[in-house]
Amino acid sequence: MTSLEVRRTLPASGLPRLLDGAWSDSSADLEAHLRKHGPPPLRLRPADLIETVERSGLTGRGGAGFPVGRKLRSVVEAGRGPAVVVANGMEGEPASSKDRLLLTRLPHLVLDGISLAAHAVGADRAFVCIHRGDPEYADWLRECVAARRAAGIDRVAIEVAELPRRYVASEQSSLVRFLDGGPAVPTFGPRPHERGVGGRPTLVHNVETLAHLALIVRRGDNWFRAVGAPRAPGSMLVTVGGAVNRPGVYEVPMGLSVGNAMMVAGGPAEPVKAVLCGGYFGTWMAAEVAWNVPLTHSDMRRAGAFLGAGILVALPESACVLGETARVVRYMSEETAGQCGPCVFGLPALAEVLSELAFTGGRARAIQQVRRQIELVDRRGACRHPDGVAALARSALDAFADDALEHDRFGPCIGLRRRPVLPLPARSEREEVRR
Ligand SMILES: Cc1cc2nc3c(=O)[nH]c(=O)nc-3n(C[C@H](O)[C@H](O)[C@H](O)COP(=O)(O)O)c2cc1C
Ligand code: SF4
Repeated sequence: MTSLEVRRTLPASGLPRLLDGAWSDSSADLEAHLRKHGPPPLRLRPADLIETVERSGLTGRGGAGFPVGRKLRSVVEAGRGPAVVVANGMEGEPASSKDRLLLTRLPHLVLDGISLAAHAVGADRAFVCIHRGDPEYADWLRECVAARRAAGIDRVAIEVAELPRRYVASEQSSLVRFLDGGPAVPTFGPRPHERGVGGRPTLVHNVETLAHLALIVRRGDNWFRAVGAPRAPGSMLVTVGGAVNRPGVYEVPMGLSVGNAMMVAGGPAEPVKAVLCGGYFGTWMAAEVAWNVPLTHSDMRRAGAFLGAGILVALPESACVLGETARVVRYMSEETAGQCGPCVFGLPALAEVLSELAFTGGRARAIQQVRRQIELVDRRGACRHPDGVAALARSALDAFADDALEHDRFGPCIGLRRRPVLPLPARSEREEVRR
């Protein structure tokens, strides 16, 4: 987990919902959880459960924002034997902390969501996927699962799986491949809901999505829709970092503006130049442009940006957008599965020319080279990894065209001398996905 602090949420907003009780000492305790919520209502008919989730309008909180009811239905309709549920708790985004927060503070809410999702789609196996490298955390999660087993709560067998720490290892087909005994790299075949773990229809959801599902099934779709925007109901967890007074994970209503989310995090700690929205597949926006954009997938898209898994990083005036982007693109070029052309050749080349623009510059030719490399990687891989990196690099050139021109003509800016803002895992923490 990053060093971000866990924070409370907006006063008088009907929140927190997910994070209600997350700060109590017994938040992870099964008995306390059962006293508060009761056991997951597995007596409900699966069809009714799916209908409730569909009516709620819940969308995935792992990045793409796909409607959850539709995904549940597609797994049921794939209909080839019992299904499998995979909870994605990998949190591959270095600037995000929400999934680890949920799993450490409220594991039984996530496990209830897995249990109910398994009931809905007729699954007899389920996995919680986390990064390896923290055996105490993994063992503790296994104890949570075992306590539920002893109490007879779940009908599905839940296992905790530890995967290599690598950005692409958390993509859904990588999870499936790993759980089938292969390397944690994306596959090129059918999607998990058609053919996933063991060839069975597989439901993959982010852990936050499953925690929302656990509450919706208990409290109803109207309750869920009472918060948020009409076409983007409910609340979401955002991880706010960078130049704000109280960086942390917050639960906010969907549709809150970027600026208000920053204010929930204590407001700017110094003048803010840019906001990175959506993490390292995300987009840079000038602060004054970002401030009024509502946190929904459609509003973000309309603004040319990406909501992703709710990551917002405020970059201070004193920092360098191009330098930060070059660091991240270099990191992302080292985090691929190395199985498609754009990742083997394209991303390292993009990292190279972008670094030249940011850190050397002064030759008035690098911008064109960066733009050419972006086009050479965009939409050319088997998964979205190169597209996400291309979008990030393109947004830096588009939103900060004047900065790019100055670097290209006159060389690096003074901001490069400052401490970097965007978090990157140390090289020693990263792993080969093929192991
Ligand atoms: C390279 C790559 C990395 C990803 N990393 C994550 C991740 O760390 N956590 C996550 O929940 N989804 C991640 N996703 C999205 C998953 O593939 C999948 O869509 C998601 O887990 C589905 O959950 P949701 O429907 O609840 O959003 C990633 C996708 C890509 C292309
Ligand atoms: S595009 Fe890159 S990350 Fe995606 S499957 Fe191909 S090599 Fe792997």
